[in-house]
Amino acid sequence: MTRVTVESSGEFLTLHSSKGAYRFHAIWLRDNASDPETREAGSRQRLITLKDIPAPTRIAQAESKATSIDITFRPEEKTVSYDLGWLEDNAYDTNRNNVSGWTANGIETWDCGLMSAVPTGKYSALTSNSDALYNWLGLVNRYGFGKIEGGPIEEGALFKIIDLFGYVRETNYGRLFEVRTEVNPTNLAFTGLGLQAHTDNPYRDPSPTIQLLYCLESSAAGGENMVVDGFAAALRLREENEEYFDTLANYCARFEYAGEAGVCLTSRRPMIEVTPDGELVAIRFNNRSLAAITDVPFDKMATYYAAYRRLGEIIDDESMEVAFRLNPGDAFVLDNTRVLHARKGYSGEGTRWLQGCYADKDGLRSTYDAMSRAKNGNGADLG
Ligand code: FE2
Repeated sequence: MTRVTVESSGEFLTLHSSKGAYRFHAIWLRDNASDPETREAGSRQRLITLKDIPAPTRIAQAESKATSIDITFRPEEKTVSYDLGWLEDNAYDTNRNNVSGWTANGIETWDCGLMSAVPTGKYSALTSNSDALYNWLGLVNRYGFGKIEGGPIEEGALFKIIDLFGYVRETNYGRLFEVRTEVNPTNLAFTGLGLQAHTDNPYRDPSPTIQLLYCLESSAAGGENMVVDGFAAALRLREENEEYFDTLANYCARFEYAGEAGVCLTSRRPMIEVTPDGELVAIRFNNRSLAAITDVPFDKMATYYAAYRRLGEIIDDESMEVAFRLNPGDAFVLDNTRVLHARKGYSGEGTRWLQGCYADKDGLRSTYDAMSRAKNGNGADLG
């Protein structure tokens, strides 16, 4: 049976439910009231600012009902009903993982073991069946990438995949970019062998958060695409040497691209990005566009470079990589804030033609989360 007790000053209450005991502050509860004067019924957007709530707001009374709690606030003398499930879902009086480098719920890090289960969806299913799309988007959220098989072999088909979840992010490279390779063993340099796994465009601010590569032609043997989980690499670095992890997280690198007339893209961001409370949220790793690093103190620079080197070695370790072949009509989408990509070498002769574009992952997550709420029937959640 759920029970609620109000602290004598009225500054907070304690909810004793089957899931545990959680304290909630009066000001937090009042700010999150869902009555029609506080939130607009249709959009669920808040109608008031904090200054509309008296600073000395206290709980005058709290009454427990079957599935809700009625709370009266003073000095407003306002009574608002709170759904018990909503309070439990939004409890903040919980134990926290304070180790730097934790990852959000639902994220699963991986290494080469995922090679036997590459997250994949069939184009025909994704474009005709919302459950199939929902499942595939869920895999992309969980693993940071997903393959699509069996799409049309036509220029611009990549946009049909972006249309499933979001919007193209246009850049100075255009709405799409071409990746064409003539594979000729007499001139290996031309095939671009030895490209280290990287995240794309760290010199943009913000970086593109989704990349899509779509295969239109692939007649040469080899040339598989490979991906590395940057979160797994960063966490392995932390396990081996916490100082290395902290150094790459606590100091900014700089990235730059000024390779064409009229373009000068620069950014100042860390290679490993964690939020103020320690969540691992992004990796930026790209040897080609790393600029002079000038934000690391002299005393830390040697450690910084040792950490950068070790992170690169981990990324290059074959036990971290998942490789797969793209045939014409196949594509893959990746979270460019997490998953690094590269291309393996070729043997024989032939051509390879991919089209690529960028998009943003807020669109992908929004599509997935809206489907999830519709399925689970909690569409009325405060947003
Ligand atoms: Fe790339």
